[in-house]
Amino acid sequence: MLTPDMTASLNAQINLELQSSNLYLQMSCWCAFKSLDGCAAFLAQHAEEERTHMQKLITYLNETGALVELTAIPAPTARYDSLQELFEQVLEHEQHVTDAINKLVHQAHQTPDYATYQFLQWYVAEQHQEEFLFKSVLDKIKLIGTDHQGVFFIDKEIGALATPPAAGTGVADPTTAAVAQ
Ligand code: FEO
Repeated sequence: MLTPDMTASLNAQINLELQSSNLYLQMSCWCAFKSLDGCAAFLAQHAEEERTHMQKLITYLNETGALVELTAIPAPTARYDSLQELFEQVLEHEQHVTDAINKLVHQAHQTPDYATYQFLQWYVAEQHQEEFLFKSVLDKIKLIGTDHQGVFFIDKEIGALATPPAAGTGVADPTTAAVAQ
């Protein structure tokens, strides 16, 4: 059984994962607007992954008999000056999520709530993968540059990280995803 404080903190994380999903979906739309189809596909897929992060937490709260409470989500920024700025914001956001996960792990340990502590280990590993992924993307952008040809190659490279949609669904097949889940 979760303490009221642990329930509140896990609920906050559920809402942060939903906020992440909305942010990446909005970023995907900006990329599509700029005809950066590879980046749009990659970010749309990542938006879906954030929903799976949220759902995992929802299932955990449901299993423990705690009430999930969804809150209003702040609107994401719709416009970006450049692809580099967009991915800088992605990395910054992921670092913020890592910080939130670290605080949750600390709280679970201090409570003590070892079931939640163990449950959260998946998120600890996931955040390491996500920061690594987005730092690599940003490094590529800085290396290749963002003149017209550079943006074309970056879009191709980043698009290659997205998994093609499963036949007839329009949604990436998570069982063959090339990027961190
Ligand atoms: Fe669910 Fe990208 O953190």
